[in-house]
Amino acid sequence: MAIISILFISLLVFIHPSSGRNHPPSINDAPSSSDIIHQACKATRYQQLCESSLRSYPNGNAIEIIQSALTVSTQNLREAQSMVESILESSPEGNLDRITAAKNCIEHLNNSGFRIKSTVDALPRGETKNGRAWTSAGLAYQYDCWSALKYVNDTKMINETMSFLNTLIEYTSNALSMMRAYDVFGDETASWKAPATERDGFWESGGESAGGAVELGVPTGLKADVTVCKGGGCDYATVQAAVDTVPDWGFGRRFVIWVKEGVYEETVRVGIEKQNVVVLGDGMGKTVITGSLNVGQPGLSTYNTATFGLLGDGFMASGLTIENTAGPDAHQAVAFRCDSDKSIIENCEFLGNQDTLYAHSLRQLYKSCHIQGNVDFIFGNSASIFQNCTILVRPRQLKPEKGENNAVTAHGRIDPAQTTGFVFQNCLVNGTQEYMRLFNSKPKVHKNFLGRPWKEFSRTVFIGCDLEALIVPQGWMPWKADFALKTLYYGEMDNHGDGSDLSGRVSWSSRVPADRVGVYSVGSFLQGDQWKIASS
Ligand SMILES: *[C@@H]1O[C@H](CO)[C@@H](O)[C@H](O)[C@H]1NC(C)=O
Ligand SMILES: *[C@@H]1O[C@H](CO)[C@@H](O)[C@H](O)[C@H]1NC(C)=O
Ligand SMILES: *[C@@H]1O[C@H](CO)[C@@H](O)[C@H](O)[C@H]1NC(C)=O
Ligand SMILES: *[C@@H]1O[C@H](CO)[C@@H](O)[C@H](O)[C@H]1NC(C)=O
Ligand SMILES: *[C@@H]1O[C@H](CO)[C@@H](O)[C@H](O)[C@H]1NC(C)=O
Repeated sequence: MAIISILFISLLVFIHPSSGRNHPPSINDAPSSSDIIHQACKATRYQQLCESSLRSYPNGNAIEIIQSALTVSTQNLREAQSMVESILESSPEGNLDRITAAKNCIEHLNNSGFRIKSTVDALPRGETKNGRAWTSAGLAYQYDCWSALKYVNDTKMINETMSFLNTLIEYTSNALSMMRAYDVFGDETASWKAPATERDGFWESGGESAGGAVELGVPTGLKADVTVCKGGGCDYATVQAAVDTVPDWGFGRRFVIWVKEGVYEETVRVGIEKQNVVVLGDGMGKTVITGSLNVGQPGLSTYNTATFGLLGDGFMASGLTIENTAGPDAHQAVAFRCDSDKSIIENCEFLGNQDTLYAHSLRQLYKSCHIQGNVDFIFGNSASIFQNCTILVRPRQLKPEKGENNAVTAHGRIDPAQTTGFVFQNCLVNGTQEYMRLFNSKPKVHKNFLGRPWKEFSRTVFIGCDLEALIVPQGWMPWKADFALKTLYYGEMDNHGDGSDLSGRVSWSSRVPADRVGVYSVGSFLQGDQWKIASS
């Protein structure tokens, strides 16, 4: 193969010794397919792997090259799935941690396959933005699988699977980078460049004209399909029982569950096949779904601890409190985990301590929500916008006089081509009354930061927010030494309140330029103007 292409290239050179810029165009001047692949792979972070993996595919236009790259990713994904199945099968019964890691891994890879398959179907329809969002998630899930295994890497088989996953991640990153280049630069592969971020001074086009000013929300006057309440008189007594009756894949129809006032002690899971589920409560603090799973329990990882864990697309909720009551010393304990693309969550309250809100992947909109926690309590690798939300730090430890460092957010973008980030618009960042009493008694030891980089390309912006006095002048906190400090993007613009002064900020934080702020609108950042909200 290599010899043939070398021959082919020298033949071209031989036939066109003078081919140059001013040479009249002829059919023979069209770039050879290996030239096109070479050009397309310049859009990626792993160029050699890109070229070698695409060499055996017939290549035509840009979209076909991207489809080939997705095929490479899909084939390797299948291989990875069977490797992880083998890990599960060979795990001793008592090794709960390994069994959980393998099971989570299998779920992540399955979801990854689903999102990549959807991308393959969407690209010929011209849905590049959807494709980028879905493959961003597909890539995140492959990394999650790797990450799950990392905690239980004690056999050769696991080590080998991790190496295999590493390469899979690179294949998928390549496909995503090419999709990005196609979207940003167009179908001329010669113009494609490797992904750059705001830190490199690069912004995508966005703003009003790119669907900037969009108002989305949970519709009012929805009629319940089923009701849930305690003590009889409703269709179901638990939220999960109601979710279980939602028809799989829903055919684009909405399914409304009205959960009446009451405290529901349960763990709720909404599968990927339960789409357009709407959960309406009677109000924050009235309809309460509560759990206490946490990573201290055998066989649970952060992903598994959610009181309410959600995969199905088009989810909506309003008027709920969802909490995890594991307590301030229980480490990771998620209240709400969301992987629902195009989800809208309004007037909901999320209560926890460490890792309260796991906005894991895909596109999510939170409006007028209340979120409480302390360590990294809004985290994940989704593209999420928080509008008009009240974000409160609550007391963390049993000996508060010792003080603590809290990060409000820990966004986990792993790749510069991922379309993910957290955007806070018109939000309040404050402490609960109880926390502010502690804070005010000894402000020097209670340190609160807007965020820290969970992963290398962490991206978070605060726009038009009230950042109260508990936010330290530095604003942002490192994860570990200088990890991610050159690659993250932490932006601020038009904030107010005692914690908003930019003069003392860390050197690796940024001001969002006024002419770029439209990039972080619901229309541009989440493609909210294109969400097809189920109308019945
Ligand atoms: C895997 O994903 C498919 C959707 O592609 C879904 O129907 C199925 O339930 C998932 N299986 C598991 C084990 O997660
Ligand atoms: C882990 O896998 C890598 C790559 O396959 C290999 O080079 C390394 O020796 C392995 N380590 C162990 C401890 O098995
Ligand atoms: C897995 O653990 C082995 C032994 O500690 C180590 O050599 C290897 O680098 C680890 N593999 C990965 C992929 O981290
Ligand atoms: C903002 O949220 C508060 C409750 O947190 C609500 O009362 C108010 O109406 C919201 N404003 C807008 C503009 O949505
Ligand atoms: C912040 O919290 C403190 C303590 O509860 C409260 O006094 C103050 O009014 C709050 N700030 C805003 C803007 O709500």
